Amino acid sequence: MPPSTSGASAGVLPLEGVASDTSVDEPDVDLGPTQRPRVEFPPPPPVEKHGPARIVAMCNQKGGVGKTTSTINLGAALAEYGRRVLLVDFDPQGALSVGLGLNPHDLEMSIYNILMDDRLKAADILQKTPINGMDLLPANIDLSAAEIQLVTEVGREQALGRVLRPLIPHYDVVLIDCQPSLGLLTVNALTAADGVIVPLECEYFALRGVALLQETIEKVRDRLNPRLEIEGLLATMYDSRTVHGREVLSRLIEAFDERVFHTVVGRTVRFPETTVAGMPITSFAPSSPGAKAYKQLAREVLARWK
Ligand SMILES: Nc1ncnc2c1ncn2[C@@H]1O[C@H](COP(=O)(O)OP(=O)(O)OP(=O)(O)O)[C@@H](O)[C@H]1O
Ligand SMILES: [Mg+2]
Repeated sequence: MPPSTSGASAGVLPLEGVASDTSVDEPDVDLGPTQRPRVEFPPPPPVEKHGPARIVAMCNQKGGVGKTTSTINLGAALAEYGRRVLLVDFDPQGALSVGLGLNPHDLEMSIYNILMDDRLKAADILQKTPINGMDLLPANIDLSAAEIQLVTEVGREQALGRVLRPLIPHYDVVLIDCQPSLGLLTVNALTAADGVIVPLECEYFALRGVALLQETIEKVRDRLNPRLEIEGLLATMYDSRTVHGREVLSRLIEAFDERVFHTVVGRTVRFPETTVAGMPITSFAPSSPGAKAYKQLAREVLARWK
């Protein structure tokens, strides 16, 4: 493991079942008439050897769809299944860093410094998180300057990939929390990634921007990164009590079929609460439906990667 500072860690939480969790809690989400059979995903086998990491960008240019929430909670759930996880905050809002208990204003250095200065290494800013096996490259508002400063750099789209390269052997999964735009920072994330997970809020306009996102992904694949593929679309903030929520989910499945994860994350007030608590729902409220959903998503993702 590369050296890491412990600025973010208020001590590692003694998580039950770390690295050997074989329990399968099915989330209790009423999927309504989506005409899709319920699929169960078995607990993943433990890993014997760590790395090289699969890099996944959590991406949707629409704001407030659950990118950051999904990054923290999928990451924590993968760590509970014994995977070594690196989270990358790639949004100048720094919400991922805040969600893991950091104060972005207090950071002496962040991913911005590492992107802009070749003499620095990612290991210099690596933070432990309260979750065993999950580390973080934090960000703050400084990162907004990178979008402009990188424009004149040679290999401007590969800047994040260069930063991540030395860390890949030490992790099993890298999750990049993208900002809500399709600008140069997001293109950097897509260029560094093997796959993209697209969180989508289950509401009427959810599908509107997906075509544009697909176009961007295709351009990046053609011009910069032939490895890139869409891992899946993740329906979030689903409310089974409304006809509307069920209709949106049905349409999503109609349009994208198997590309839509079987795991659906329900709408619950527990998620905003976890942000205030500075920890993932999987440790804040481990038996809540939200925690179970992200644990199922971790199993589903690992089953797809087999
Ligand atoms: N399943 C859910 N149920 C209820 N609230 C949720 C759920 N998922 C996320 N939220 C809340 O919705 C808000 C937006 O979520 P989040 O920050 O994860 O979205 P985002 O896509 O990262 O936003 P941005 O585009 O601004 O980065 C947050 O307050 C979060 O706590
Ligand atoms: Mg976010």
